[in-house]
Amino acid sequence: MILGIETSCDETAASLVSRDGAGRPVILSNVVLSQVEEHAAFGGVVPEIAARAHVEAIDGVVKAALADAGLGFGDLSAVAATIGPGLVGGLIVGAMTGKAIAAARGLPFVGVNHLEGHALTPRLTDGLAYPYLLLLVSGGHSQIVLVRGLGRYERWGTTIDDAAGEAFDKTAKLLGLPVPGGPAVERRARGGDARRFPLPRPMRGEPGFDVSFSGLKTAVRQAAERAAPLGERDVDDLCAGFQAAVAQSLAERAGRAMRRFRETFPDLAAPVIAVAGGVAANAAIRAALEDEAAKAGLALVAPPLKLCTDNGAMIAYAGLERLEAGLVDGLDAPVRSRWPLDEAAAPKIGFGRRGAKA
Ligand code: KG4
Ligand code: ZN
Repeated sequence: MILGIETSCDETAASLVSRDGAGRPVILSNVVLSQVEEHAAFGGVVPEIAARAHVEAIDGVVKAALADAGLGFGDLSAVAATIGPGLVGGLIVGAMTGKAIAAARGLPFVGVNHLEGHALTPRLTDGLAYPYLLLLVSGGHSQIVLVRGLGRYERWGTTIDDAAGEAFDKTAKLLGLPVPGGPAVERRARGGDARRFPLPRPMRGEPGFDVSFSGLKTAVRQAAERAAPLGERDVDDLCAGFQAAVAQSLAERAGRAMRRFRETFPDLAAPVIAVAGGVAANAAIRAALEDEAAKAGLALVAPPLKLCTDNGAMIAYAGLERLEAGLVDGLDAPVRSRWPLDEAAAPKIGFGRRGAKA
């Protein structure tokens, strides 16, 4: 019975995960408290506000996770918490809470990489066997990763500038839509005409598996400026055009990786590409990936939406796998703002003002 705590961005989350008699993982509770409203006025996540909100919420969220599962601290066998990558203030809150519970109860503590939580979610939800291909698309990351085994990740592609979710969020901001931008853009795209504004398909046909979204974001801005003042219809059409461009670009890049995956593992009976991260909640993106996977002969595994976005269950589960492999951490485990899944992969330098994004 493991408690998982997640506080790396703007969600305070806690969950209890264990295994049933057959060894299958079971989620006993999964409490996610979003801070969206606290950051809304600023058009993005403010690290200091996030850290303070985590401090206020974390005890109640852990308590609620235990109550939902009908358990107390005495039932725990280990505690896992996200220790990176993410906003350091929030990470410290979650890590210290997890360590305090572990210390008070004499339990093992497991420090989890947030990205590993996303990467292993398809094993929690669908019992996927290693190896599989993973498309991780969130607010901070866009990566195509080969998941060979626990702790064995090869980054095949990454963004050279913005993350996919970041592009959704910036596009939403530009068009005056609420945060988080992804769901808002998806809602508006439903009624829009994706062909009205011709937008680029970033990286299409380029060698390798990297993605890029900053040029697309600029193209949306220029199209919006030309069409100004924007009516409801214009916003719908811009959202539809943008979403279609992201979906096609991701599908093309992932399709290349899927073919490479098949060449790398020609004997796999049931090759799979899994999606993770908040952007994987997008229905148009899922549909485009579904098509591409069918063409490449892979099955697409997409966890339920509430396990695609940030949550404590994915941290508890990654912690469980690490615990079972004997990979526990000391109470001195530090938090890290940057922590690539594939430590061997060279950092990519983006074109943005903030430099390296991955
Ligand atoms: O994985 P996540 O919850 O947090 C991290 O970034 O780690 O992902 C959040 C991101 C945000 O950028 C949000 O706009 C995006 O996922 N997102 C979506 C959708 N739902 C959330 N993007 C596109 N379509 C959606 N339906
Ligand atoms: Zn995330």
